[in-house]
Amino acid sequence: MPGFLNDTPLYAALIQHGRQNPASFHVPGHGQGKGLPPELAGFTGQALYTLDLTELPGLDDLHNPIGPLAGAQNLAAKIYGADKSFFLVNGTTVGIQALITALGQQKKIIVSRNAHRSVLGGLVIAGADPVYILPDTIPHFEIDCGLTSAIVQQALADNPNAAALLVVRPNYYGIADDLEGIAGVAHQSGIPILVDEAHGAHLRFHGGLPEDAMNSGADAAVQSTHKLGGSLGQSSMLHLQGSLMDTDSVTAALRLLQTTSPSYLLMASLDLARYRLALQGSEMMEKVFCLTHSVRERLAGCKNLHILTADCLPGENWSLDSTKLVISVRNLGLTGYQVNELLARRYRVFLEMADFYNVVAFLSLGTTEEDCDRLVAALQDIASREKLPALSRLPAVPLLHKTAMKPRDAWFAPAERVLLGEGRGKISAETVAVYPPGIPVLNPGEVITDEIYEYLLDVRRWGLSCQGPADPTLKTIKVVLE
Ligand SMILES: Cc1ncc(COP(=O)(O)O)c(C=O)c1O
Repeated sequence: MPGFLNDTPLYAALIQHGRQNPASFHVPGHGQGKGLPPELAGFTGQALYTLDLTELPGLDDLHNPIGPLAGAQNLAAKIYGADKSFFLVNGTTVGIQALITALGQQKKIIVSRNAHRSVLGGLVIAGADPVYILPDTIPHFEIDCGLTSAIVQQALADNPNAAALLVVRPNYYGIADDLEGIAGVAHQSGIPILVDEAHGAHLRFHGGLPEDAMNSGADAAVQSTHKLGGSLGQSSMLHLQGSLMDTDSVTAALRLLQTTSPSYLLMASLDLARYRLALQGSEMMEKVFCLTHSVRERLAGCKNLHILTADCLPGENWSLDSTKLVISVRNLGLTGYQVNELLARRYRVFLEMADFYNVVAFLSLGTTEEDCDRLVAALQDIASREKLPALSRLPAVPLLHKTAMKPRDAWFAPAERVLLGEGRGKISAETVAVYPPGIPVLNPGEVITDEIYEYLLDVRRWGLSCQGPADPTLKTIKVVLE
């Protein structure tokens, strides 16, 4: 899109967004400053930039902390029950990649198939060999609901040389599986359990939320503090406990992967978010809880909307972060994408995400009562107006994967973009995932089998939104040159 040199398209879009008086139900959880620690929110105008500094005498060094950064990280470890915590300035993404790298090269890692795409980066960097295990799904919402100890036990028995188990918990929809049981199984085999806890920085501050990873026996957990802990975008934390993960290897991997110019503004926001959570975390989370409860109550009677509750989970070992509202709209006859678009365009209510059947709203520290009233009113209005035949069922995702190459080998192999039909039988060089359930049907190095090809044709016919491929319309697909 050509423009003029005196245009500032991104800045202008951000200003324009703010002018609409948006109601926000997405990350970062501080909700455009409303839920920021007051010490940070109080720095306005030029004063804010007095925090944007570098490794000056007295300000420490993220890669070799011995002063205030070491102190801030130690306090984070204390509040999160870790032996050691690290501040991250490239989100949870870099933490996950550092953990995989710290395991050493070419290790076999048991990975939950619903893993976030940052895991692929780690697998490519370390040349690791993933063994995928499949999460279950929840009917009607069709979303993934995590693992069972039995699945993990079987995977460990089949792969006695695995170096680690990597899981996502809670998942994007706020569903938490039985991590304590799963961690117990991993530990019986003497391997560490690494938890992508991007959506869990707030869990330990309210008794009504699932237990967090450190409390459930994880060896490592990476949390996007910026998502639900009240810090600035991109700032995360990595926590370690016990001796199964080597602290020096994790430190070295973070030194390899993180910038040498970490933003002090981001790191200060982590320090302040931790400080506030430590002092007022339960009080603040109680407020979020009350707001959530009220929204859930008001929407419960709304015809054709179906809200995910703990009753929908597969068993008593599962729990739900109810501050995430997963609302199935399939009985409205509209897709989640359409409802999401309507909410934004017609009502200026902005949600975290939508998939084919559901919309997902995150309530967090920056959520206000007024935001909640607007969300409820908008959804009630949509539900009372839109009356189309209920959506038909999505094609089922093929669950069998045929691995031909490790992700790293496929990633670096010569590859070409071909028409989808020509890709049949070839090795994919990219990931393809459709939400729900968000479990990739292909990862780099896996064969486009007949069954997968037929599924991809359906996805294309239905115009479903795909995550991962460079061509999300699936006219073409990138395959390894053989
Ligand atoms: C489950 C999960 N893991 C990891 C990440 C990556 O986190 P970050 O954006 O902090 O790098 C995300 C981001 O959305 C996520 O949803």
